[in-house]
Amino acid sequence: MSTKLFPTVLSALILLVALAGCTSEQVAVKDAPPAPEVALSGDDFSYRNEPLLTELGAPKSVFDAPDPGDSELPERSFENAPPVIPHNVDGLLPITGTENACAECHLPDEAADYGATPMPASHLYDIRRDVPLRELSGANYNCTLCHAPQANAGELVENTFSPYYRAKEQKERSNLLDILNEGVE
Ligand code: HEC
Ligand code: HEC
Repeated sequence: MSTKLFPTVLSALILLVALAGCTSEQVAVKDAPPAPEVALSGDDFSYRNEPLLTELGAPKSVFDAPDPGDSELPERSFENAPPVIPHNVDGLLPITGTENACAECHLPDEAADYGATPMPASHLYDIRRDVPLRELSGANYNCTLCHAPQANAGELVENTFSPYYRAKEQKERSNLLDILNEGVE
């Protein structure tokens, strides 16, 4: 076979195999059991019992928290959960490449001056390469990816989750970096 002809023959073969694949798929569909008579639509899964693409029945959310320095710290949702933001974030967002107001108050060297909880060791550590960093890890730069401001909104579904903390301190402090390899080493 000439080397010029070879790619053409190869594409024809690939096409044949693909066509054969399509035919056998059609057979499979014909043999499939009939679709249920009552199909569920996306809206049937709405906790609000309203169409998903509307705001109807959504609880009214009130974002009304005290300023940083005046808020109460709630318990962690579970051991080593990212704590929720207890204060308002007025004027602090968005976080940009050059401005990160959260870091200004929460970096370990600054936090005491503001009475803020210092960022934990895990935020100044390159976990993937297992090396400590001298500054905030890029993976933790965008705080609101994980730490959420709180709205006063009613529950759509009763929450029966109850957290278990191995030590009492874990209700208000995290220690992820210390225990990351627990059970591994
Ligand atoms: C002006 C300083 C300041 C700024 C800016 C600030 N915080 Fe705070 N933050 C505090 C203080 C002080 C507390 C402790 C609670 C209080 O006194 O209001 C706190 C508490 C928190 C907590 C709860 C910590 C815990 O122990 O439960 C989180 C999470 C948090 N802040 C995240 C953020 C994020 C995210 C941003 C940016 C959107 C931010 N903070 C901006 C001062 C600040
Ligand atoms: C990728 C998710 C993620 C991002 C981004 C992130 N955090 Fe966290 N944060 C966590 C988790 C998870 C914990 C609790 C476990 C631990 O120790 O790391 C935590 C804990 C904290 C705590 C509590 C420390 C303690 O001693 O209990 C503070 C304060 C905090 N983060 C602030 C920040 C600030 C400020 C930023 C942005 C500069 C930020 N975090 C970015 C996930 C994140």
